[in-house]
This record gives sequence, C-alpha cells and structure tokens, in this order.
Amino acid sequence: MSQGLTLSLRDVTKTFPGDEPFTALSGLDLDVRRGELLTLMGPGGCGKSTLFALVAGLIGPTAGRILIDGAPVTGPALDRGVVVQQYALFPWRTALGNVEFGLEGPAAARRGRARELLDLVGMSRYEQCHPAELPAGGRELVALARSLAFDPKVLLMDEPFAGLDRRTRAWVGEEFVRICERTGKTVVFVTHDAEEAVRVGRRVAVMTPAPGRVKEIVDVGSFPGDPRRHLTRLLRDGLTAARHG
Ligand SMILES: Nc1ncnc2c1ncn2[C@@H]1O[C@H](COP(=O)(O)OP(=O)(O)O)[C@@H](O)[C@H]1O
Ligand SMILES: [Mg+2]
Repeated sequence: MSQGLTLSLRDVTKTFPGDEPFTALSGLDLDVRRGELLTLMGPGGCGKSTLFALVAGLIGPTAGRILIDGAPVTGPALDRGVVVQQYALFPWRTALGNVEFGLEGPAAARRGRARELLDLVGMSRYEQCHPAELPAGGRELVALARSLAFDPKVLLMDEPFAGLDRRTRAWVGEEFVRICERTGKTVVFVTHDAEEAVRVGRRVAVMTPAPGRVKEIVDVGSFPGDPRRHLTRLLRDGLTAARHG
C-alpha cells in the first residue's frame, strides 16, 4: 500500500454564486503532514464538506490553492489518490464483495487483496456477511477497508462514525487510529464531537463558523491541560460569536 502525501490549503476561499452569493470558506490555511491523522472540527455549516469537495477536485476554489504533494488539484482527484469515504456499502454484496469493488486486476488477485484488507480492519471472520448482518461498528470498518482498497494518498472522512452509539463509536475510533497508523495514510477526519476529535487525531484543526477558516490547531499530545475542554470552549465561543456577529 502506498504512503500518504502532504495536503496543503493556501488562503482558500469558496464563494457559491447565485442571487445571494454565499461565502462558505474564506482565507483558509491548513497543512496536513505526510501520513498524519488530523481531525477537523467545527460547527455545522462552517464549510467542512465544502473543503472536502474542493480537495477531491469536485468543485474549484474561488481563490487560493489546494496542493497535494505540492501539485495543484485541478479536477476530480482520483488520479492524485484522494478518496472521500463514501460511507454506504452495497447492501446486496458481502463484506468481501464490497471491498473487492474498489480493486482492479484479475479476480483471484482482487479477492486475495480484499481478504488482506478485511484482515487489516479485523473483519475477516465476517467476509461472507452482508452489511445488514454485520455487528455495530462492523459496517464502518468494512467501509474503511473498501476506501483503503482505492489505495488513497489522502483519505477524507466526513463524520464516518456519527451513526454509532457512544460505546461503539469509542472502540471503532481506537481501532481506526491503529489501522491508519499501520497504513501510513494521510487522513483528514471530520467530527463535531470534541471527545472523538482527541481520540482520533494527534492534531485537531478547529474551524470558525461560516465563512470557515482554521482558527486554531491543537496538538493533543503536548496540550497543557485537558484538550477536550479547550476544544469544547473554542467551539462554543465560535458559535456565540456567530450569533452576535
Ligand atoms: N452548492 C452550494 N450552493 C450554495 N451554498 C452552499 C452549497 N454547498 C454548501 N453551501 C453552504 O455552505 C455552507 C457550508 O456547508 P458545508 O460545507 O456543508 O458545511 P459543514 O459540512 O461544515 O456542515 C452552508 O451554509 C451551506 O448551506
Ligand atoms: Mg458536512
């Protein structure tokens, strides 16, 4: 599996045109390191999904630059290895069949590779199960295996565990960190839950309400005090500012 690449956003602004143009992102700067697992946190509507669409090359920025390993993103970025985790699995395919879907090459090789990926996410024993038969959290891990099958240099995950209950979410999050560390992928993980942000990310980038930009980056490992409380306060302050601003 190939290593992750760097992702840089430089002074990125995105204005959606229309009768009342809307600026979703304004002057956003962010550097994600090679092989890093970074969480991106911000209130609803601050432009997180917009940022992902830009990095994936599905839409273009109004101003600024988006660079993967130093090269600008100019269109749908599958060629540069950007995958936005499409969360839903095909319900009519088995776990193995779902992972195989992302692979290319002869059938036997695809099957072998899909088995390795299911093993990587700890879901081997469920390979013949359909999504509805998987245990809580299992669907998310199989979906992760399928995203990894595309061998992305940058993996973007937009609140992938939001549908899970608290306890399942906690162990899947920990499992996810271990898997990412083993693969060396560059991952940006969106959440609006402070607890999940510090569980998953070694660094947490906090966004302002729309127009979104990165307000602060919290280094979870070296933060003096409880990073969760700090993040919760940052989010709350942002929301208060938005109401009064
Ligand atoms: N295609 C679009 N046209 C106009 N406004 C949009 C479009 N896409 C998103 N927006 C607006 O941009 C803002 C940010 O949306 P989004 O990126 O989905 O936020 P988040 O993912 O952080 O909740 C929202 O106010 C949303 O209504
Ligand atoms: Mg969103």
